Amino acid sequence: MTTEHVIVTDADGIRTIRMSRPDKKNALTLAMYEAMTAALEGANVDGSVRCVLIAGMPGAFSAGNDLTDFLKAAESTGGLNRPALRFLSALIRCNKPMVAAVSGVAVGVGTTMLFHCDFVVAGSDAYFSTPFVSLGLIPEAASSLLAPRLMGQRRAFELLVMGHPLNATHAKEVGIANIVVAPEDVDAEGLKAAREIAALPAGAVALSRALMRGATDELLARIDQEAKIFSERLNSPEAKVAFEAFFARKR
Ligand code: COA
Repeated sequence: MTTEHVIVTDADGIRTIRMSRPDKKNALTLAMYEAMTAALEGANVDGSVRCVLIAGMPGAFSAGNDLTDFLKAAESTGGLNRPALRFLSALIRCNKPMVAAVSGVAVGVGTTMLFHCDFVVAGSDAYFSTPFVSLGLIPEAASSLLAPRLMGQRRAFELLVMGHPLNATHAKEVGIANIVVAPEDVDAEGLKAAREIAALPAGAVALSRALMRGATDELLARIDQEAKIFSERLNSPEAKVAFEAFFARKR
């Protein structure tokens, strides 16, 4: 299941899915979405996996969707890419507890995927940002539903619409992160949390988690609803200008 930019390893009941594209701050390509989806779907049917750990690289959890792919989508009529949608659906359908270990940038889906995780470790260097609206886009990954639920309408508006980033302390305050640790301890603390969960009776964990998460239908319907609008926005002149501006910034 390991691909060039996603390394999947299983040990002691924990499946670690590590995004590893450091030169691009772990911006997610179509192949990366596909590999992560396969790892999550595989975990669902593998009885030896008791917990999933999603991790990145030092200084980069993920810079979000690769903007090259967004630019390509803006220039076609394909809309939000299928692999991204399948990944979001796999996050919602994942029946194993998910821990995330976040060091550095967590932008776009790098932040919104965390709304689906059960325990989030943030390095003190973590930076959570969802610049959807300034890119001419709208929030995705059912964050339009989950963020107001988690932190209230006003704080969610500030994050998702105004695009104000959160540092690790603020992320903990609003409930995105459980604990804040030194950047060099992020992986070890993520693993520690995953091991703690993996050591619990798996049946009781699964049932408790399913009760707490509720039915998935509402979330799946929301990602579809968001994706329809998101796809329209990808083709908007506002979005195309914003993507081009990102790649022109260093020239
Ligand atoms: N898509 C494609 N490439 C990306 C990327 C993305 N989402 N994010 C970063 N990169 C690339 C940069 O183009 C750069 O490549 P280069 O070295 O070939 O020029 C490399 O990753 C490093 O990024 P850089 O911007 O130099 O790092 P930084 O530490 O100064 O800033 C970020 C990091 C994540 C804050 C910044 O890159 C950024 O804002 N990226 C865009 C995030 C985004 O809008 N994601 C989509 C949200 S919906």
